[in-house]
Amino acid sequence: MSSLDSAVREKILGLVADWKDEPGALLPVLHAVQHALGYVPPDAVPLIAHGLNLSRAEVHGVVSFYHYFRETPPGRHTIHLCRAESCQAMNSRALEAHAKTALGVEFHQTTADGAFTLEPVYCLGNCACSPAVMIDGELYGRVSSERFDELVADWGKR
Ligand code: FES
Repeated sequence: MSSLDSAVREKILGLVADWKDEPGALLPVLHAVQHALGYVPPDAVPLIAHGLNLSRAEVHGVVSFYHYFRETPPGRHTIHLCRAESCQAMNSRALEAHAKTALGVEFHQTTADGAFTLEPVYCLGNCACSPAVMIDGELYGRVSSERFDELVADWGKR
């Protein structure tokens, strides 16, 4: 029994229909579903598999292979923390440890109050202002632990 409500189900079927005749449709469909819903619900897998004439295992394999795809709903805000070279050279590892402790989550997890999901990212194109963080698409540079806490306090109210 699917847990998807009928509007969500229709949305997914529509996205599958948009792409099903294109070669390599699976990744675009998964991106479109995640863009529309914020994640790829496990119950979407059989619909996508059936629509694209793939096995469920194939679809699930791709969803779980790419860390970009979420199988659970994200928090209200998504924090992307840069782990690429320039940010690492500016001590982003310490910021990462601080962020995980402050939020009480690992990467790809959501805080208990549902406010924040923490995701790694590999270069935000803001290397000159490392370490860099992006929250819901807003970019921040030279983020210290203190600045991180301020940002979390600010975004937590939104
Ligand atoms: S390495 Fe972090 S923004 Fe480029």
